[in-house]
Amino acid sequence: MRGAGWLGALVAGAMVGSIAAAGAAAAAPVPPPTPHTEIVGGELADDGQFPWVVRLSVGCAGALTAPRVVLTAAHCVERTGFYSGLTIIAGSVDQHSPDAIRVKSRYVVRAPGFRDATRGDDWALIQLAQEIDLPLLPRAADGSSDHGMFTIMGWGATREGSTTQQRYLRTAEVPFVSDRQCGRAYRDAGYPYVSSEMICAGDTRRGGVDACQGDSGGPMVRRDAAGEWVHVGIVSWGIGCARRDYPGVYTQVSKFAEVIERKTRELS
Ligand code: ARG
Repeated sequence: MRGAGWLGALVAGAMVGSIAAAGAAAAAPVPPPTPHTEIVGGELADDGQFPWVVRLSVGCAGALTAPRVVLTAAHCVERTGFYSGLTIIAGSVDQHSPDAIRVKSRYVVRAPGFRDATRGDDWALIQLAQEIDLPLLPRAADGSSDHGMFTIMGWGATREGSTTQQRYLRTAEVPFVSDRQCGRAYRDAGYPYVSSEMICAGDTRRGGVDACQGDSGGPMVRRDAAGEWVHVGIVSWGIGCARRDYPGVYTQVSKFAEVIERKTRELS
């Protein structure tokens, strides 16, 4: 988002939402946004609860996957190459805290096949100008954590239609939704849901809980069998936010495990 800057990224994110919503209106009646507001349907995170989550100055989030590498969404960055225009804010739930760690980007690796989030491949790695000394978030290496209840977090909008960003990190719990159910909803609305690269989560009975604009690139996590956090998804896209019929769509980290691992090593 060189030149466009912070607000540009948010507006771009919001546009994905509204274009998506227009597409849905043409294909099927769109349910009204749920009355739940408050990420959407969440609560404030505690300091230190998610030590590896970072804020990107373009209005996205990410996770520390190596001391010098952040894993985020491809749609949060412009291209592969040297780029020092991003600031990464880490180590605090309060993105304005004077105690937060602020580090510049140095190099970006964007998924080679990326065109737009709805077509998959929505991952990118950011190499930092300096290492950050904080706990790392291990990536899911296989599909064994790709089910159950997930935790999401971010500084994004707390309701659909809003681009207002939050000063303090928010978090929510979202249940897994099958590719079959999610793919059907989005394909019916005219989107090419890519089962092999995406994983969905949301409350398909009541709606009301989801990531939203500005949460992009942030991690969706769960505890593995050993009780450790593992990075399962990357906030990517959705029609609106927290609608019952349209769960949040996340990049399925386990499907990109090998290439992300290799590129992370190269950037470390
Ligand atoms: N594309 C959005 C962003 O740039 C994230 C959208 C996530 N939407 C959702 N309903 N889960 O921040």
